[in-house]
Amino acid sequence: MISISQTESTERTLMDNFFMHNPLGCISISNEGVITDINMAASEILGYRRSEIIGQPLKHFLRDSDLRMILDSLPGFLPAEKHFRWDLNLYDRFCDAVSVSCSMVTGEEYKILIFDHNSGYIERINELERDQILAHLGTWDFSCDRNRMYWSNETFRIFGIDPAVTNPGYEDFIECIHPEDRELVEETLNRSFNTDLIMTPCELRYRIIHGITKKERWVYQKFIPNTGSSRGFHELKGIIQDITEERAQEEHIRLDIYKAIASTAEHRDNETGEHMKRIGEFCHFISKKLQKPGAFADDIRIFAPLHDIGKVGISDEILRAPRALTEAEIEIMKTHTSIGYDILNNRSKLEMAAEIAKNHHEKFDGTGYPSGITGTAIPLAARICAVADVYDSLRSKRCYKEAYSEEQTLAIIEESSGKHFDPQLVRLLIDNRKSFDSIFKSLTDAA
Ligand SMILES: [Fe+2]
Ligand SMILES: [Fe+2]
Repeated sequence: MISISQTESTERTLMDNFFMHNPLGCISISNEGVITDINMAASEILGYRRSEIIGQPLKHFLRDSDLRMILDSLPGFLPAEKHFRWDLNLYDRFCDAVSVSCSMVTGEEYKILIFDHNSGYIERINELERDQILAHLGTWDFSCDRNRMYWSNETFRIFGIDPAVTNPGYEDFIECIHPEDRELVEETLNRSFNTDLIMTPCELRYRIIHGITKKERWVYQKFIPNTGSSRGFHELKGIIQDITEERAQEEHIRLDIYKAIASTAEHRDNETGEHMKRIGEFCHFISKKLQKPGAFADDIRIFAPLHDIGKVGISDEILRAPRALTEAEIEIMKTHTSIGYDILNNRSKLEMAAEIAKNHHEKFDGTGYPSGITGTAIPLAARICAVADVYDSLRSKRCYKEAYSEEQTLAIIEESSGKHFDPQLVRLLIDNRKSFDSIFKSLTDAA
């Protein structure tokens, strides 16, 4: 015959087994809100071992509002005949919110939270995954105190990193960014962490180096600071989108517009398109040799051909005069620099173009126009453009002159070193005469 205490003990074991082997996650909590036990399913869902989690306050795993709802529930509050379920988020080992659907059993001295992955959760994750692939848009979040980033699969794809290999931290993320854009990104992230967590989204466009192709890609990132749960950690939540193709298209349109403007000047001036192209290439070559940072070399290639745009404001009578100009006409002709500046100034992204238009006739010794500035007071882009323009003009045939040979051209330019031209640039031209010659020949006018 089984004694009462034996029956109690058997039931106790049965209950323990029921708790421990339940396929649903179960967390038992004291009335003070401390976790007293979790079962194997809960341990699996949250990624913690039982020994790690027992004794911890439940508030470490919940948002404030959810925590209050659980702790405020009184014994017997949930009538047995009704089926209560509600959805909430539990924070797993990696501070990621796991969406669960839960119910609760409350006794006098304990509560048991019973939960499972939210119904439809996996389905929604799959849908989200598919949408992210379609938009080439990933999501990420970054918790400050744990220095761990969570990346969605699409974010891994955008960066070209295998999710199985790297579990990215902040340093890994910074590594993926183009060295020239790192400062900008770090500054913006730090500012977000140090603000008073105002919920203002930040936007950034920057370059990354794709992990597999090692090629430069452009991304758009938008993120918002978030206080997260009562754990008090600060986190940033954001999206990232690969915009390389869109940017290339925009750039293409932008370049076409610049070319159209440049050709306006060519038509008025009887300058040839090849002259403009060569100037762009010479300037690009010089800037690369000078190891100018960022987009300088690419910008000057586009903007140098606009140097004479101000000639659209000079009358045909002067511009196309088949004779030597009078003193007064020469003065008018010189205003093409300030007219060009007025056309290009105060337009976004055209600062360099405006500087070149204004200063390409300044001379290193201060005898140029319109301002008579000297040396390095003349913007570098304009100094480069001046050498390139004269080199090309001398070597080209014009209605009023024959083409000079390469030797004659270099001799004239060398003679003007420190007078008309920046000596550093003249040296560079002479040292690289072969490269200049091949650019000149490869883009020579058909005529
Ligand atoms: Fe000019
Ligand atoms: Fe020119």
